[in-house]
Amino acid sequence: MNHAFDAIVVGSGIAGLSLALKVADGGRRVAILTKKSRAESNTNYAQGGVACVTSDSDAFASHVEDTLEAGDGLCRRSVVEEIVSEGPARIAELVQLGLEFSRNAAGTYDLGQEGGHTHRRILHVKDMTGKAIEDALLHAVASHPRIELREHVFAIDLITARKVGLALREGDDRVLGLYAHDNGTGEVDTYAAPVVVLATGGAGQVYCYTTNPDIATGDGIAMAYRAGVPVENLEFIQFHPTTLYSLEQKRFLVSEAVRGEGAILRNLEGEAFMARYHPLADLAPRDIVARAIDAEMKKSGSAFVRLDIMHKSEAELRARFPVIFENCLALGYNLATDGIPVVPAAHYTCGGVVTNLDAETALAGLYACGEVASTGLHGANRLASNSLLEAVVMAHRGAGSILRYLQLRAEELPKLPAWVSGDAHDSDEQVVIAHNWDELRRTMWDYVGIVRTTKRLERARTRIANLAAEIQEYYWNFRVEPRLLELRNLTLVAKLVVACAMQRHESRGLHYILDHPSKDAEVRDTVLQRDLR
Ligand code: FAD
Ligand code: SIN
Repeated sequence: MNHAFDAIVVGSGIAGLSLALKVADGGRRVAILTKKSRAESNTNYAQGGVACVTSDSDAFASHVEDTLEAGDGLCRRSVVEEIVSEGPARIAELVQLGLEFSRNAAGTYDLGQEGGHTHRRILHVKDMTGKAIEDALLHAVASHPRIELREHVFAIDLITARKVGLALREGDDRVLGLYAHDNGTGEVDTYAAPVVVLATGGAGQVYCYTTNPDIATGDGIAMAYRAGVPVENLEFIQFHPTTLYSLEQKRFLVSEAVRGEGAILRNLEGEAFMARYHPLADLAPRDIVARAIDAEMKKSGSAFVRLDIMHKSEAELRARFPVIFENCLALGYNLATDGIPVVPAAHYTCGGVVTNLDAETALAGLYACGEVASTGLHGANRLASNSLLEAVVMAHRGAGSILRYLQLRAEELPKLPAWVSGDAHDSDEQVVIAHNWDELRRTMWDYVGIVRTTKRLERARTRIANLAAEIQEYYWNFRVEPRLLELRNLTLVAKLVVACAMQRHESRGLHYILDHPSKDAEVRDTVLQRDLR
C-alpha cells in the first residue's frame, strides 16, 4: 500500500506527539506511526519530572551552569542556554493542554530536587509525570482533524532521493518517505512525504538490565545511520543509579526524586558512602553516583546497595511516591520501614542523531527530536529531568522549521518504489532470534558497562560483528517482522556505541575507561557517518 502525507512522525512519545500537534496546527497533514500501542514509550514511564526554572528563587543561569557541570565539558553552551530559557513557554503550553503539575499546600508548584541540581526546579505529577504528559498529548492528538495516528506500524528504513536514483548531484539528497511494516496486515507499506521526523526515543534495550520499556531499541539512530546521516557521542549511555534490585531484566526505576526528598544510599555495612565520592553526596550527578555504587558493590561482592528513606512516614511516602511505593511493596519492601535494594541499570542515550537547534539533521527534510537526537544539551552526561524539557522545546523549534521547509518545497513527490521482499519466507527460527537478542544485550552489559577497558571493548566489538553477520543473513532470507527488525537495529546501535567508545581515549562523564582514567584537554564529539559511496 502507498500512503502520502505532508509529514510523517515516527514515534508517539513526548517528542513525536508535541511536534505533530504543532505541524498539524500549522495546517499540514501529519501521520504519526508508532510500533506498539500509542502510549507505549519511555515518556509514559517518566517519574521525576521536567526540569524548568519557574521559581523566583531560581535563575536560568543556575540551570545552565548545573547542566554544563553535569555534562562534564561537552555540552554546547548556546544550546543549553536556548533550551533552558525556552522551557517556561513550553511548560505553559502543556498546562494549557490540561496537565496539572503537583502543587504544595500554599498552591504553588511543589518543586522536586534531583541529582546535580543546585535548586529545587523539577515540576512533577507525583511520581507519574510521564504518564500525565502522555495522556494530555494523546488526548489533544485524538481530536486533531489533520493527524492520523497509526499503531503497530514499524518504520523500517528511510527512502532518500539518493537511494531511488533522484539525487543527481552531491548535496541534492533529501528524504522522500519511508518503508514501514504493518503488524495488522504483515505487509511493508510505502509512506511518501517531504518531511520525516525521527522521534523514536533511546536505545536502553541494548543492555540486558534497563529501566527502558521494550520499545527502546534505537531504531531511529539505526535508520539515520544507514541513510548516511551523522550520529554522535553514543558512548555516553547513562546508567541510572537506583533501580529496584530483582532478577528481572526489566528494572523498575526508583526516582532520583526519592533522594531529593532525603533518601540516603548505604552499603551493606550501613555506611552512607556517597560523601566519600562527591561533595553533593547522594545528590551528585548520575554518572558519579552510578560509579560509586558500582565500586561499593565490587568492594563488598554484594549484588546491590540499599536506599534508605525511613525517616519519612508511610503516609508521606504514599502521597508523594504512590507508584514507587506500590512497586516496592509488590516485591516485599515497605519504603517506610525497609532499606530497599537498588542497583544501576541502563537508562538514557545521551548521544544520537546529530541535529541543530531546529531539530534538522544533515539530510534535507529529515528531522530528529527527543531522546533519539543529539542536540548538544546533554554533553557527556544528562542532567536529571532535562530530557522531557529538551523534547518539548525541540518539538516546538522543529515544527517551526518543518512548516518553513514545506512552504519552500511545494513540488509533487516522485513515485516511490514498493518494498521488495524477494524470495523471503517466514522464519521458523524464532529461537535463534531470541538467543541473539540475549547474547547481544549480555555482551553489552558485561563489556561496555559503567566501567570499561580497551580489552573488553575489543571483545565486544568481535562478538557484535559475528552477531551482525548472522542477523544480516536472517534479514535477507526471512520475511521481516518486528523482533527481527529490532534486533537488526540494536546490533547496529551496539556496534556504534562500541565504535564511539573506542574513539574516546579519555574518561569523561558517563564514559569511564580504566586505560585512560583522566580527561583529555581536547574536548570533542565522537561523530560517525556511514560512507554511502
Ligand atoms: P519515547 O517516549 O521513548 O517515544 C518513542 C516512540 O517511538 C514510542 O512511541 C515508540 O513506540 C516509537 N518507535 C520507536 N521506534 C519505532 C519504529 N521503528 N517505528 C515506529 N515507532 C517507533 N526524563 C526526564 O526528563 N524526567 C524524568 O522524570 C524521566 N524519568 C524517566 C523514567 C524512566 C523509567 C525512563 C525509561 C526514562 C525517564 N526519563 C525521564 C527519560 C525520558 O522519559 C525520555 O528520554 C523521553 O520520554 C523520551 O521521549 P521521546 O519522545 O524522545 O521518546
Ligand atoms: C528519575 O526520576 O530519577 C528519572 C529522571 C530522569 O531520568 O531524568
